[in-house]
Amino acid sequence: MKRVVIDCDVGVDDAMALILAYGSQELEIKAITGVNGNVPLNQVFENIQKILSLIRPFYPPLIAKGADKPLTGETLYAHSVHGIDGLGGADIPINETERFWETSPLKASELLPTMARQFPKELMLIATGPLTNLALGIQRDFEGMKNFKEIIIMGGAIRTRGNTTPYAEFNIYSDPLAARIVLESGIPITLVPLDVTHQVFLTSDLMEQKIKPLQNLLSNFIIQATGYESLSRKFRNRETIFLHDPLAVGVAIDPTLVRTENLSLEVELQRGEYYGRIKERAADAKINVCLEVDRKRFLELFISSLRKRT
Ligand code: RIB
Ligand code: CA
Repeated sequence: MKRVVIDCDVGVDDAMALILAYGSQELEIKAITGVNGNVPLNQVFENIQKILSLIRPFYPPLIAKGADKPLTGETLYAHSVHGIDGLGGADIPINETERFWETSPLKASELLPTMARQFPKELMLIATGPLTNLALGIQRDFEGMKNFKEIIIMGGAIRTRGNTTPYAEFNIYSDPLAARIVLESGIPITLVPLDVTHQVFLTSDLMEQKIKPLQNLLSNFIIQATGYESLSRKFRNRETIFLHDPLAVGVAIDPTLVRTENLSLEVELQRGEYYGRIKERAADAKINVCLEVDRKRFLELFISSLRKRT
């Protein structure tokens, strides 16, 4: 089992990433931390509890709140993609009776280095939101954070168009200074950018043939959260739903799903057209960047994680 911590801004694809993580036999989720991103922090934290109430993990993870704003700049939010509540309006009651999590007294920026110190060079950190918590953890306890074996980050657009500006991806654009601190930390990083996450998406055929027929709590959640309307065979106003964050979890489960190149990267902090862009630079390469993905095998892995529930 690979021991992991997940830092996320639960949104719909973060929720699907948590479902994949718990549906795999390979990962043991030790903690889940929330960060301001798709929706405000308190909503993210509520959504983490909703998804854990849905998944009902046998081993309750520690959960902790993190940053409620980026290190610099203002928050963008992505309500247009994830809905006002961040889960597309999916109706999931928080289970107040049984305990499917344990709330840590620590903030995320304290819990992350503390967990890394507890499992030196063994714990993987999967980051699927803006990198504010990770940067604060590095600023607070760099030696502690260096105990992470690897950090897998969903973020950036390296040799492809951005999704927030033509050059920048949402997680990086939301807190570019945090991204620069993390990418330049020297901690082993695997970046899962739009270059690969734009190749993995749900389609109406997948929904009709693979997901709807499962008719279980997880498949029903995905139908609700993505706003999939079988009559229109559309996702609200979209033809497809990208599986950005689930792919970051997929890379933790099975690194052979992707082909990577070791690149030297720099985050653009200059306000203006290129703000939040990650660009390649001619220097010592130190970031493993995913540039190709085995789409078919990843989608099979994702769908199989939904079958684990009665
Ligand atoms: O650009 C996609 C990323 O931004 C995903 O992590 C999504 O959840 C949002 O956080
Ligand atoms: Ca996210």
